[in-house]
Amino acid sequence: MKKDLVSISDLSAQEIADLFELAFEMKSGKQGGGALPNKTLAMIFEKPSLRTRVTFEAGMTQMGGHAIYLGPKDIQLGTRESVPDAARNLSRWVDGIMARTFSHQSVMELAQYATVPVINALTDRVHPCQALAFGLTMLEHRSNLKGLRVVFVGDGNNVAHSLMLMAPKVGMDFVLACPKGYESDEQISAEARRLASEYGTAFEITHDPRQAVRLADVIYADVWASMGQEEERAIRAEVFQPYQINRELLEEAKGGCFVTHCLPAHRGEEITGEVLDGPQSIAFDEAENRLHIQKAILLRLMG
Ligand code: CP
Ligand code: NVA
Repeated sequence: MKKDLVSISDLSAQEIADLFELAFEMKSGKQGGGALPNKTLAMIFEKPSLRTRVTFEAGMTQMGGHAIYLGPKDIQLGTRESVPDAARNLSRWVDGIMARTFSHQSVMELAQYATVPVINALTDRVHPCQALAFGLTMLEHRSNLKGLRVVFVGDGNNVAHSLMLMAPKVGMDFVLACPKGYESDEQISAEARRLASEYGTAFEITHDPRQAVRLADVIYADVWASMGQEEERAIRAEVFQPYQINRELLEEAKGGCFVTHCLPAHRGEEITGEVLDGPQSIAFDEAENRLHIQKAILLRLMG
């Protein structure tokens, strides 16, 4: 049966560990070259992208396959053509579909109606590839994820959701420090809390960033206004100001605490340039690892 990656919830702890191992092999060049000969990936983008587009496309090329970029004006999911019909058509021509959409429902429907694997490359709800790239990066820097604490400072958004769903399965504690009213989705939080108790890890939501980072092994940043929330940018800039990741906040954390960001970053807003470029930042390592983890995902699902 075909397998999709719509959410981290589609992966068991063992499958995540296997993806990390395969990604390290990809990165060291032991695997991957020519692994997907003549395979085609359709990439649906309703939103802009630098990292996701380039890493999926380069990844397919490196494995001997090909990727087709379909921008917002091409398919027009749900207006020019229904999501099920787009899925049915694409399944007749390509070997896999990657999709970045506004509505999470669109990716779920693509997975339901496509007969080829579907990979979620960010929806308003989750961003599983980013969370996996983060896990890989931390593993690279710390060798073992068990017992580490990730503190996400900012909006309880799509990236936070995928991190909180992955953390228990890799043995990490997860803390969200956000302003009141910007907590993660209730349903996803409940799932994350349930997983944390199943795997014996911590799950916390707090409104005090300074206290939250004290035990952090890594602090995670993302933009305050996500794609699709542009009109809220001014109000969010005010509300989130106390949540900026800057030198003062980092001084509250343990020495050796890492800082990362899914990127793109708005320097001077959610993170200062000094911290993003500083010695504790692993954000660009994580960006690089998008390539390696996604090659592992593509090979597992399409190989
Ligand atoms: N982090 C991330 O997904 O970047 P892009 O939006 O540039 O793809
Ligand atoms: N939360 C951000 C992540 C960008 C990669 C957004 O959805 O815009």
